[in-house]
Amino acid sequence: MRKVVWDMDPGIDDALALILALKSPEVQVLGIATVAGNAPVEITSANARRVLECLNAGSIPVAMGAANPLNHPLEDALSYHGPDGLGNCGLPSPLTTLYPAKAWDFLARSVSDAPGEVTLVATGPLTNVAYAFELHPELPEFLAGLVLMGGAYSLTPYGKGNQTPFAEFNIWQDPEAAHIVFDSGADIFAVGLDVSMDPAACLNSQHLEQIKTRRTPAAHLVAQLVEYEVKYHGCCRMHDPLALATLLDASLLDFTSARVEVAKGNDWDRGVTRTLSSGSAQLIHVASAVDGSRFLKLFLSRILEE
Ligand code: RIB
Ligand code: CA
Repeated sequence: MRKVVWDMDPGIDDALALILALKSPEVQVLGIATVAGNAPVEITSANARRVLECLNAGSIPVAMGAANPLNHPLEDALSYHGPDGLGNCGLPSPLTTLYPAKAWDFLARSVSDAPGEVTLVATGPLTNVAYAFELHPELPEFLAGLVLMGGAYSLTPYGKGNQTPFAEFNIWQDPEAAHIVFDSGADIFAVGLDVSMDPAACLNSQHLEQIKTRRTPAAHLVAQLVEYEVKYHGCCRMHDPLALATLLDASLLDFTSARVEVAKGNDWDRGVTRTLSSGSAQLIHVASAVDGSRFLKLFLSRILEE
């Protein structure tokens, strides 16, 4: 059982990843921190609680974080995820209140209470994580690991940008934060577009029909989220569920060690994640391959469980 604290920007695929985690005995979600990214932070904070309450997990604390990247104005992705950030799934507004601390202090407290035991999952822009590492310098070494969805490393034909032709959304949104995190000394596992854009790892309309056969609250919500993406985007990309899945079955992905440099600022290369053959940048683990069909089989088996 891996103890997890999770920084996210729900967002359809963050929500799918959270549902997967709540249906998986391999992980225990201790708490959630929310960040601006796919949607403004007020919406991502409401969406995290909406999903938790739908799955009777409203006791898991949710702490709100940064409303903007460190050095740039927010450019959300509501045009992709829908006006509510959750594919207009119609979940009621949350009843639970937010945890009374900033996300970065909540993350730090959760990890420092159990040094070496808690894994940080980050599936949004890394603004909160950067604040946490800057304000609590002991944090990176206290982590059991840091699994993040972010970057495009040219390790496969899919490893190109999705926010620009060269940069992935989470890293592009806050490249300065990503630079701080990638240079923190934490044991980082980066799951990028190289694997998450592989069509073999994406849900399609046939998978959606399978999910619609089950009437549990989890399956019903997943069906709504997936249906929105299939309807408006042709398939459902599983960026964040794939990052979480590394904690469920480490054999699903291959990782290679690389020194990664993040392009900061706001030029054409903003948010580009370059792998370097040498230099002082720390080595991180970058996902280089995925068994897409086995990953989807695992996802569906968990979601379709009673
Ligand atoms: O580029 C995909 C990533 O950006 C995913 O985490 C998605 O939810 C958005 O945050
Ligand atoms: Ca996300």
